[in-house]
Amino acid sequence: MSKIDTILKRARAGEELSVEDLVALLSITEADELQMLFDCAYFLKEQYVGKIAYFRGIIECSNLCIKDCYYCGIRKSNTSVERFQMDEDEIFTEAVWAYEADYGSCVIQSGERQDEEYILMIERVVTRIKKATDGKLGITLSLGEQTEETYARWRQAGAHRYLLRIETTNPEIYAKIHPADHLLEERKACLARLRRTGYQVGTGVMMGLPGQTMEDLANDILFLKQIDIDMVGMGPYIPHSDTPMGKEIPSYTDEQKKDALQLGLKMIAVTRIVMKDINIAAATALQALEYTGREQGLRCGANVIMPNVTETDFRPKYQLYDNKPCTDENSSLCRGCLSGRIKGIGETVGFGEWGDSPHFHSRNGTEAT
Ligand code: 5AD
Ligand code: FES
Repeated sequence: MSKIDTILKRARAGEELSVEDLVALLSITEADELQMLFDCAYFLKEQYVGKIAYFRGIIECSNLCIKDCYYCGIRKSNTSVERFQMDEDEIFTEAVWAYEADYGSCVIQSGERQDEEYILMIERVVTRIKKATDGKLGITLSLGEQTEETYARWRQAGAHRYLLRIETTNPEIYAKIHPADHLLEERKACLARLRRTGYQVGTGVMMGLPGQTMEDLANDILFLKQIDIDMVGMGPYIPHSDTPMGKEIPSYTDEQKKDALQLGLKMIAVTRIVMKDINIAAATALQALEYTGREQGLRCGANVIMPNVTETDFRPKYQLYDNKPCTDENSSLCRGCLSGRIKGIGETVGFGEWGDSPHFHSRNGTEAT
């Protein structure tokens, strides 16, 4: 039996894997072994969360941002971006669209703002969406670092899940890809605040960052396990030409795209093997590398997809990385397109369901909605 075979067998038997085991899995390049890894992850996905893909309609409601991350296309110093901010009515309309499209839940995401005007607007719109949908539309927020009070206000208004990526858990890499006042420790503190305020908490990293090793990524996965995360959203780093990092390493060659996609898929598979009953998103960035990237993500263990429900006019202004997919399409088109792709791989869409992470409910002894 090969080394990989043995590790996967131990994983299926419920044994804890070491950092060395994870490095071995992430380092696979050989086609047969890759298939074994993906099959194992898919087997565990089927056992623990089923062959159902949940849709979260993502509303990218503003590209104003007070942060200046060196990789991100909407960083505050990027003067080539035309800034926009949806108003309360616009966000509300898109959330109702997601509800009527039977998505079960939506995600409200934007660049980071910490001013009271914004905090209050989000609080009001969340309250309004909950009321108009009779509490039925689940609301996830992805609005960056905030105080515990702000998280609590938004939770009180009705949001029940929150996504905040840690980006990388290696302090040196974190310091290289962010300005000095963006602190890894603050990210960690925010994740703890979110947990305390009662959210289902999602985090994740970018893969393929300059200087990042397989060991770093293995440690990232073990960090997610250690903080007992409910949801994971992670994706390949993709250069954006108007950012400091994108200027250093310009756009990927076809070969680099293939490698980045493979690494993204391996990370999903290994994460599923390590944390069997959590929700894992097939990030949109996978599709920037290959047209079928997102469904490949589902085949490797992911169970969540985030169809864009943002008004088409705004989409090109929310380019976190180059070649972001679906910027010319509209919400109905993405709905049909993604439903077809999911059917194509023999899965069903969890229409009308929140699709909470089973892990959250088993930890809390609560019933899934
Ligand atoms: N490539 C890939 N992902 C990116 N993000 C931001 N910029 C990039 C990029 N260039 C991701 C970050 C952030 C999320 C909203 O988008 O991980 O947390
Ligand atoms: Fe948007 Fe396919 S998902 S067009």
